[in-house]
Amino acid sequence: EPTSTATVQLPAFDMEGHRGARGLFPENTIPAMLKALELGVTTLEMDTHISKDGKVFLSHDPYFNREHELLPAGKEIPATQAKQHILYQLDYSDIKKYDVGSKFYKKFPEQQLQKAHKPLLAEIFDTVQANIKARQLAQVFYNIETKSKPSGDGIYHPAPEEFVDKLMAVILGKGVERYVIIQSFDVRTLKVVKQKYPEIKTSLLVENRYGLKKNLDLLGFTPDIYSPYYKLVTPGLVKKAHNLNMKVIPWTINTLQEIKDLKAIGVDGVITDYPNLFKEL
Ligand code: G3P
Ligand code: CA
Repeated sequence: EPTSTATVQLPAFDMEGHRGARGLFPENTIPAMLKALELGVTTLEMDTHISKDGKVFLSHDPYFNREHELLPAGKEIPATQAKQHILYQLDYSDIKKYDVGSKFYKKFPEQQLQKAHKPLLAEIFDTVQANIKARQLAQVFYNIETKSKPSGDGIYHPAPEEFVDKLMAVILGKGVERYVIIQSFDVRTLKVVKQKYPEIKTSLLVENRYGLKKNLDLLGFTPDIYSPYYKLVTPGLVKKAHNLNMKVIPWTINTLQEIKDLKAIGVDGVITDYPNLFKEL
């Protein structure tokens, strides 16, 4: 058993299931995480928000998404209310009532549908750790994204320090800190992690074309992982990142050929909606 975060290294090639296994089960739900685990991922990727009553739970969007989520009674969200069910303005007990697993989602027609709710992060840790133990699986990492934005506007959590403290309270409370990476596009949350919880691994998400140096300058430190949109990855970027002792783990790559191509230029892992592809690697 490792005794500190520093002793737990990411695998040589990190196979990450995006939002669990988004291509196969509704995103950021318990069934999606369990499917990814069953498929042998080394890391579960997930998105987090904070509810009005301060609970940390999983969701990608900051509101219920009518394309693939349903109202509590199983009814469609009317088009006129498309972005009106704002998570940050709801208590978690109300968020939990919406069914986010039963609606057919055109973008991922292969998803197996079943009733599901947006889970608490604590619930994810309990369920995954219990499954690992019961089925004697390898320990996975948790790549947890903070969905916060500088211009919160009442839609995103506005206070990065409070967000990180709430997130870390759950992580430390469950004792999984050695297996956690905190990732974000919002450098404010990563700065807080680095200052207050320096033992936690950090990953900078990048979708802009600023280049490595400018992005690291904006962050103000060198994270453990540089995580760009996959089309921004070049052999030169991988080399520069490795020279700075950072891993490169791009997102979101959904074909086997592209995963192989990225692996060939030296990336340290990939994030995919289809973790079933990993068995072909
Ligand atoms: O982990 C990277 C990736 O998940 C970032 O994009 O929008 O899918 O959260 P998004
Ligand atoms: Ca994400």
